[in-house]
Amino acid sequence: MGQLAVKFTVVETYPPAKLNLFLELLGKRADGYHELQTVMIAIDRCDAMRVIRLERPSIELVCRWSPSAEIWRQHLPTAAATTFELPPAEENLVTRALQRFRDVFGWPGGFRVELEKRIPAGAGMGGASSDAAAALLAAAELCGVERADRRLAEIAAELGSDIPFFLDPRTGLRSNTKRAVGARQGAGMAFAAGRGELLTPLPAAPKLHFVIIYPPEPLSTKRVFSQCRIPSEPRCATAWLEPLGGTDRRSIPPSFNRLTETAREISGWIERAIEALAGLGLRGATMTGSGSACFALADSARAARRAALLLSARRIGVCFAAAPTSLPATLRRKT
Ligand code: C5P
Repeated sequence: MGQLAVKFTVVETYPPAKLNLFLELLGKRADGYHELQTVMIAIDRCDAMRVIRLERPSIELVCRWSPSAEIWRQHLPTAAATTFELPPAEENLVTRALQRFRDVFGWPGGFRVELEKRIPAGAGMGGASSDAAAALLAAAELCGVERADRRLAEIAAELGSDIPFFLDPRTGLRSNTKRAVGARQGAGMAFAAGRGELLTPLPAAPKLHFVIIYPPEPLSTKRVFSQCRIPSEPRCATAWLEPLGGTDRRSIPPSFNRLTETAREISGWIERAIEALAGLGLRGATMTGSGSACFALADSARAARRAALLLSARRIGVCFAAAPTSLPATLRRKT
């Protein structure tokens, strides 16, 4: 480990959220996970993270909601009080990722992480996974570990199904998909198989403009997966593995998410969010991941912002516009 060569002690980064443009379930595995196929795209709704290298061997995490937990609560009056609390350190993915980093790379010091949360929790937008991936990349940068080191990808896959995507869609544990997906491999979009950790990068999507609703009720990933049903004839993801046509955003395959059926049964907000998006004439309204956030496509950035404003006035949750972004999150070194 090149610790002596590393002069800087602080890294700042902005871990992005993701949306699932396609998600189908193929079966239940012996380890309790579900075999799935999904298409994930990183979007420019980001948390803000500062990671400081410490001489002492402690791992510290301070987290606050941005602009404040109070404002999030005002928008989501029916959300459980615990929604805006951090899970205990031993369950928190950022802390666990940094502990594993120390163990695997034999790093004797510690880290302090200052995190500002802007990605909704329990939304299916991968906020905690993205934070964990960013913390791993920051730790690698601070300790002179190559970001392409396979051990980082292994820690990521071990800690959570979505973390390898955020670590780097190009270097995750590869899916055995044989399909060629074009030479221009986009860094912000990937096809994922297995439990979500086997990645095949996809070419950059045409410029997309998303409108997102985070309803007043978050959903537990565990609960949605535990109640889901495996279809007898799963939908095929093949359309997503072909190079996406030209720059016409209407040519992207229709969005689909098998977990929407289950989430609808658990929370009435899913139906309301999807209807609200479709009612404004937005295309492909569906849920992301295990919910509860839902999204649809607008024709321009302006139309997306206008739709988000209109929806915000209806008190159906936190509504915002977003656009694709690239991965992994950029790291800024500070001395
Ligand atoms: O991998 P991750 O910790 O993010 O998954 C959270 C929970 O979601 C798992 O404990 C499991 O219950 C469920 N899950 C699943 N199949 C997947 C991914 C997640 O059943 N492919």
